[in-house]
Amino acid sequence: MSGRTTLAVLAVMAAAAAAANVSSSQTSNCSYLGLFKHLDLINAKREVGMMRPVKNWTMHTTILLDMVLYGILELGEKTQTVTSHIMLHMRWHDEFLTWNPSDFCGIQTVVIPKSKLWYPDISILEDISDTGSIRQSPMVKVFSDSKVKAHVYQHLTSTCPLDLYLFPFDKQQCNITFSSVNYYVDEIKLGTLSSDETLTWVSDTLMITEGEWILVNLTIVEYNLNKTDETLSNLAYMVTLVRKPMLYVINLLVPMFYFLILDLASFFIRGEKLNFKVTVLLSISVLLLILKDLLPSTERNMPLIAKFSLIIFIMVGLSLLEAMLVDFLMGLDGCCGQKTPSASNTQVEIQLEVNCRTEPVEAGEKSQAKPTARPREGDLLKLLLEQVKAARQETERQCKDERKPGCYARLAKIIDYVYFVFYLISVATFLFYMYVVWVEGRCFNLISECT
Ligand SMILES: *[C@@H]1O[C@H](CO)[C@@H](O)[C@H](O)[C@H]1NC(C)=O
Ligand SMILES: *[C@@H]1O[C@H](CO)[C@@H](O)[C@H](O)[C@H]1NC(C)=O
Ligand SMILES: *[C@@H]1O[C@H](CO)[C@@H](O)[C@H](O)[C@H]1NC(C)=O
Ligand SMILES: *[C@@H]1O[C@H](CO)[C@@H](O)[C@H](O)[C@H]1NC(C)=O
Ligand SMILES: *[C@@H]1O[C@H](CO)[C@@H](O)[C@H](O)[C@H]1NC(C)=O
Ligand SMILES: *[C@@H]1O[C@H](CO)[C@@H](O)[C@H](O)[C@H]1NC(C)=O
Repeated sequence: MSGRTTLAVLAVMAAAAAAANVSSSQTSNCSYLGLFKHLDLINAKREVGMMRPVKNWTMHTTILLDMVLYGILELGEKTQTVTSHIMLHMRWHDEFLTWNPSDFCGIQTVVIPKSKLWYPDISILEDISDTGSIRQSPMVKVFSDSKVKAHVYQHLTSTCPLDLYLFPFDKQQCNITFSSVNYYVDEIKLGTLSSDETLTWVSDTLMITEGEWILVNLTIVEYNLNKTDETLSNLAYMVTLVRKPMLYVINLLVPMFYFLILDLASFFIRGEKLNFKVTVLLSISVLLLILKDLLPSTERNMPLIAKFSLIIFIMVGLSLLEAMLVDFLMGLDGCCGQKTPSASNTQVEIQLEVNCRTEPVEAGEKSQAKPTARPREGDLLKLLLEQVKAARQETERQCKDERKPGCYARLAKIIDYVYFVFYLISVATFLFYMYVVWVEGRCFNLISECT
């Protein structure tokens, strides 16, 4: 009895094992081919890849899009563009691509060419780069729960209205806006996988080159854009950048400031000032030329640095004009004030010389003629000489009086003095104003740095 039952049990078990063998040989197919056949990817046409991958068309497709900014190459101040490296991670659900992994030897993911399936037509509104700069993998990764992941690397050149008012202490906010070209908001909705903080952190970590910029913030804004008859879903990344200003401070601001101080100091030069001042003015023009190459020529919201340079140029120019005026006034005084004393001086000296030369000659002649009358005449001559000396001293005193600065020279000195005081005050005020505006702007940009 027991032997029969054991035999029966064994037979049942064998049958079950055989059945299991049959079923496993039918289902555990470990090649991708079975899965691809299941997903209808072998079909050359695959009509289902042409339509938005939903079974009920009233359902929208949500596309989650993360952008990582991993390189800031340059900001073109003149062209108002930003060149950067970005990495996009896109994720959506394709309802036609789903399978049970246990049916296919545990296959969880599969990589397939994106031409076989529906791919969203997301584009960047600010993009002005040429198509050659997009490195897009031809493949996408599909997960068994119908999730599709795609990656795009792009060398992006985008437009950005740059605000250069505080240059070189400026902060720029540029938008990178993603939007579907054709689908309305009830068909495609855009969203993000990660938060702003995460993306900022990842961007900061992966950053390969920043140039003269510091990435402050990536802020995500999702909004619907209403056009005349359609509403599009938009996803904007607001990228906040702050410039590292040191190079411009060393190259432009410090020399400019230094030239201003030099010009101020030139008031203490005795003698020829004009050449020095003209040289300073020329040096400032060179800096202005450099500045012209950097900044766009726009009158709206003119950069502070342009005003700064212009005001310094005008100040130095005015002080040059003032130096010319003073020089001119001094010259006027020289014409009427200096020539007369020098002329009288020479006359007196000539007279004296004549007197001195004639005296011994006369004395000699007289001594030859009348030797007895010599001592008296000598006394007389001494008297004469003393009188002449006194007259000479008198005229010298008069000469000294006349050599005192005349009215023009005095005027020139007063002008020079008043102008110097005025110049000093205005330079101090101006530098203080510039300092306040720039430092306030800098603090406004980097709150953490100034508090
Ligand atoms: C099940 O299949 C394997 C080969 O796939 C074979 O070796 C084994 O003998 C089979 N078992 C039975 C009970 O048929
Ligand atoms: C897997 O499936 C494919 C297509 O159905 C078939 O050609 C292949 O022989 C199968 N392989 C196994 C090991 O059953
Ligand atoms: C399609 O979706 C709409 C809204 O969710 C629902 O009312 C409708 O019944 C669905 N149609 C089918 C065929 O499932
Ligand atoms: C960027 O986008 C935000 C949100 O739409 C908008 O408020 C801001 O003005 C935009 N900035 C620029 C520079 O276009
Ligand atoms: C960065 O963005 C977040 C979110 O919008 C904001 O709260 C924060 O103030 C920003 N930080 C700076 C330094 O701008
Ligand atoms: C767009 O239009 C919808 C209704 O059509 C409205 O609810 C929404 O506020 C509008 N959005 C904007 C930004 O105007």
